[in-house]
Amino acid sequence: MKKIIVANWKMSPASIKEAKKIFNDTKKTANKLRKVETVICPPFVYLSELGHLVSKGTLSVRVGAQDVFWQENGSYTGEISVNMLKNLGAKYVILGHSERRQNLNETDEMVNKKIKTALKNDLKVVFCVGEKERDENYLRFIKNEIIEGLKNISRNLLDNLIIVYEPIWAIGKSGEEADTPENVFQMGIYIRRILLPLAGEKLSRNIPVLYGGSVDVKNCLGFLKEGNVQGLLVGRKSLNSKEFKEILKIAEYI
Ligand code: PGA
Repeated sequence: MKKIIVANWKMSPASIKEAKKIFNDTKKTANKLRKVETVICPPFVYLSELGHLVSKGTLSVRVGAQDVFWQENGSYTGEISVNMLKNLGAKYVILGHSERRQNLNETDEMVNKKIKTALKNDLKVVFCVGEKERDENYLRFIKNEIIEGLKNISRNLLDNLIIVYEPIWAIGKSGEEADTPENVFQMGIYIRRILLPLAGEKLSRNIPVLYGGSVDVKNCLGFLKEGNVQGLLVGRKSLNSKEFKEILKIAEYI
């Protein structure tokens, strides 16, 4: 299975010119890799142009969105539908990111509705879960996020699901403050155990589990190797194409 490296550009960069530069630069390396699927998730406003660049003979780069609305159509001012994303060439969508949960009050119920709509419409869902702090309840918290996020979603839709373990305390820090590969390894086992009754034996083994939170060129190998994850969600460092390309190459050659 290919490693999945997701670039979460968040609310950057400020212009389409810069977005194209980072994208084209990343694409040059990403297209040469055979064992890595690179997923660039820019702000909505750049999806159209970047989606277009993907369709021009791109092999291993995909574009994805950072959100989608749960209704497929109707009067919802400011929202973006799954069909809009698909028509622009997006194949992935990040859902449940902690910044949306915290800043926009996205609840488990909203995340669940979005996941359901996206999976029903054949988008691959990059579903983020993670605790605010590592207290005595954190494992229960993560279990609950997964169960609520996947509530009433039929098993046969879950083969387009990807789970990212992204502890909130590890986001936006220095690389040394990220989680440890040892803990991420344990978390992968734990997440698969939660998935077992929801997804069945085969899928619970096969759903990719990624790590996110201050991933950089120094710590990425540890997560991929000792952490045993099937990919990474990279925030700030994905906007630095030089460093991001190094991360992609490490993922290709481990
Ligand atoms: P970071 O962001 O890599 O800048 O910590 C990760 C994320 O929030 O997805």
